[in-house]
Amino acid sequence: MRKFLIDTDTASDDAVAMCMALQHPDIDVVGFTVVAGNVPLDQAVQNALYTVELCGANTPVIAGAGAPLVRDLETAENVHGQDGLGDIGLDLQGRTPTPGWAPQFIVDTIRENPGEITLVAIGPLTNLAIALLWAPDIADKVERVVIMGGTGEHGPGNISPTAEFNFWVDPEAVRVVLRSGMPIELVGWDISIASAVVTETRRAEMRALGSELADFSIDIQATLQAFAFEETRLEGPDFPDPIALAHAIDPAPATTEFLGVDIAIGPDPMRGTLIVDHYGFAQMKPNVTIVTHYPEDHFFAMLYELLS
Ligand code: RIB
Ligand code: CA
Repeated sequence: MRKFLIDTDTASDDAVAMCMALQHPDIDVVGFTVVAGNVPLDQAVQNALYTVELCGANTPVIAGAGAPLVRDLETAENVHGQDGLGDIGLDLQGRTPTPGWAPQFIVDTIRENPGEITLVAIGPLTNLAIALLWAPDIADKVERVVIMGGTGEHGPGNISPTAEFNFWVDPEAVRVVLRSGMPIELVGWDISIASAVVTETRRAEMRALGSELADFSIDIQATLQAFAFEETRLEGPDFPDPIALAHAIDPAPATTEFLGVDIAIGPDPMRGTLIVDHYGFAQMKPNVTIVTHYPEDHFFAMLYELLS
């Protein structure tokens, strides 16, 4: 069994990624740590608890940072719904999280399982940054760090012309993580729009699975689908967190480059823009394995298998 620790801001694509991990026979999800992002922290915690219950699991859900390190929280209810799960009337209140504090859980879990934890971050990196500022030794003890964030090599932004939401919300946290020495594999929004768009055909294929989790995974994308049609002009809702999770599960088919990567801290329009030193002009020491391609059919085959 491989041990995954997943840090999430639990909205409609995060929930699908959570289901994939919980359904995978070879993965032991040791815990979900929660961070504010798409929705405020308490809602993200409730959404995570709902998803764990739906999957019939009893995985710990531990709350973390309710805001970025030094900025005000900016949420994205316009993308995922007021409740983060498509506003389809799910009962998303009243569940109790596991006592604890996410950065503490991250540090303790990695220290207690040196070389065994795959840390998957699918929200803003505030919890990871706090953990690293407090316990920098975990950078050498974690086996893999797979992050959904940034715009990859040449991708467009989805919250500004050049910034992806997770990295835009807390760019200071991204800088702490990028400079930590952690073994980072970065799956950007470019990969999602290239290989993880749930088109009408894909939606029909998911419906045909006839499973509760497949139907849930479609139904909660109601707001994201409208955002895709109206704003990002995609052929359907895209699944950035699920394809990042797919890469964490099976990195073999990915094409990657090991490059020097930093983040723009300043105000918009540069806030949260990923800086990739493709040609070494800035003499940046390579620090991140960037996924430059992940095959669409491989992703959807894995998604269907896990949601069946
Ligand atoms: O930009 C996409 C990312 O922002 C995904 O993780 C999505 O859930 C939102 O958090
Ligand atoms: Ca997310």
